[in-house]
Amino acid sequence: MSEPRYFIKTYGCQMNERDSEIMAGQLEQMGYVASSIDRDADLIVINTCAVRGSAEEHALGYIGQLRQLKQERPEMTLAVAGCMAQEPGTIAWLTRHAPQVDLVFGTHNLHKLPDLLDRVAQSDEMVVDVWKAAGEVVEHLPSRRKDGLKAFVNIIYGCDKFCTYCIVPFTRGRERSREMEPVIQEVRALAQEGYQDVTVLGQNVNSYGHDLDPQHDLADLLVELEQIDGIRWLRYTTSHPRDFSQKLIDTIAASQKITHHVHLPVQAGSDPILKRMNRKYTRDSYLDLIDRVKEKIPDASLTTDIIVGFPGETEEDFEQTLDLVRRVRYDAAFTFTYSPREKTPAARWENRDPVPNQIKKDRLNRLMELQYQISWEANQALVGQTMLVVVEDLSKKNDRVWACRTHTNKVVLVARDPSVNLLDKFVPVKITGAKTFYLTGELAGPALPNMVSRTREAALPMV
Ligand code: SAH
Ligand code: SF4
Ligand code: F3S
Repeated sequence: MSEPRYFIKTYGCQMNERDSEIMAGQLEQMGYVASSIDRDADLIVINTCAVRGSAEEHALGYIGQLRQLKQERPEMTLAVAGCMAQEPGTIAWLTRHAPQVDLVFGTHNLHKLPDLLDRVAQSDEMVVDVWKAAGEVVEHLPSRRKDGLKAFVNIIYGCDKFCTYCIVPFTRGRERSREMEPVIQEVRALAQEGYQDVTVLGQNVNSYGHDLDPQHDLADLLVELEQIDGIRWLRYTTSHPRDFSQKLIDTIAASQKITHHVHLPVQAGSDPILKRMNRKYTRDSYLDLIDRVKEKIPDASLTTDIIVGFPGETEEDFEQTLDLVRRVRYDAAFTFTYSPREKTPAARWENRDPVPNQIKKDRLNRLMELQYQISWEANQALVGQTMLVVVEDLSKKNDRVWACRTHTNKVVLVARDPSVNLLDKFVPVKITGAKTFYLTGELAGPALPNMVSRTREAALPMV
């Protein structure tokens, strides 16, 4: 009999991507092999995100599509995991509308996947096992990372910030930091395998370590990780402006490895809205933080997240957001329209979603138009510079072109010489052109030597 095949569909943030790698690791330990398409799989796991209504709709749409596949192959197993599973409403909905699902588990018990699959094998009913709260941090789980030089490492789980719009504290639970030592060991092992571009992960990495004894902070951890040979770039995500310390700014400025990409979600530019969002900073303190970042790290690329149409947002409030964007001049922004989420404080307000859809969309368009202009200008300013990039892939649109990334997290497209395989190499590139969402460049020297070869054996198309 051939090995069983699994397929994992992941929605949402990098924490979910990382969870999927841990599910994949457990499955491979059980003897499963990865399948590149869902039709061929014996087990499909849908790792869901609940942060906005649209994320949920995508996942539910996909679960709906799988009904037919399950009818054709009733012996296959369909599992729903992730943040949506932590919401009681989802389980009720699935029981009613998606009887094709065999297993539902949450974010706190994904390390139990082998046991859960055993239970499914012995049951004719949908197995539902969702833990309300997280247990102790579980170490030494197997994981199957993606190919390439990039690796993600969890450092803190959960979130204690309770922004009034946000479901994450409910789906991911209270903050729990991993001890420093296992994190250092993991990154050391990654370096030995040849990973060179490491991102440490958490919903709020800036509060890393406050719950450890003795206490440590993110800057302490990054300083330790920086000493590991073989790691070239260190990234961290996501940051909360309230906890982004001067010590961290100074640490980044002094470091050779911590990348100069600073993502500081602002969410809104007006004080009354920030207060209602429970963001715990003001417009002025945020702008002061940005000034301090710019002063110490002048080439930092700055990015942000912004929500428009939060309850109570007036035209004046929104103009304050536009004004803040003009002042900061972000390199890029992720922009969202407000979507009320069950259980969150804002969804319990009397008027839970008062800004009409049309106004939300109009504000989103105005904001994006402004940001696109600024992004284009910021990218133009880089033309003529030479910088190190990592060659991540072939361009999706054109296989005569490499898709590369700068340490500031910008994409650079570089013409490809088919006789030289630069995949997974660090190369210097001169920036020759700039668009809103990417740069173009040409090779400006030989690739840096990789300490450990991780060059993918992917069959590259001939040009
Ligand atoms: N921990 C991260 C955020 C994770 S969610 C942080 O604090 O930055 C990613 C982004 O989704 C948030 O920054 C916010 O801009 C957006 N978001 C969260 N809840 C939302 C909601 N209810 N409606 C619209 N956007 C939301
Ligand atoms: Fe959500 Fe706020 Fe926590 Fe980010 S900091 S995950 S927006 S509650
Ligand atoms: Fe979504 Fe859960 Fe991440 S709600 S954004 S997958 S923490």
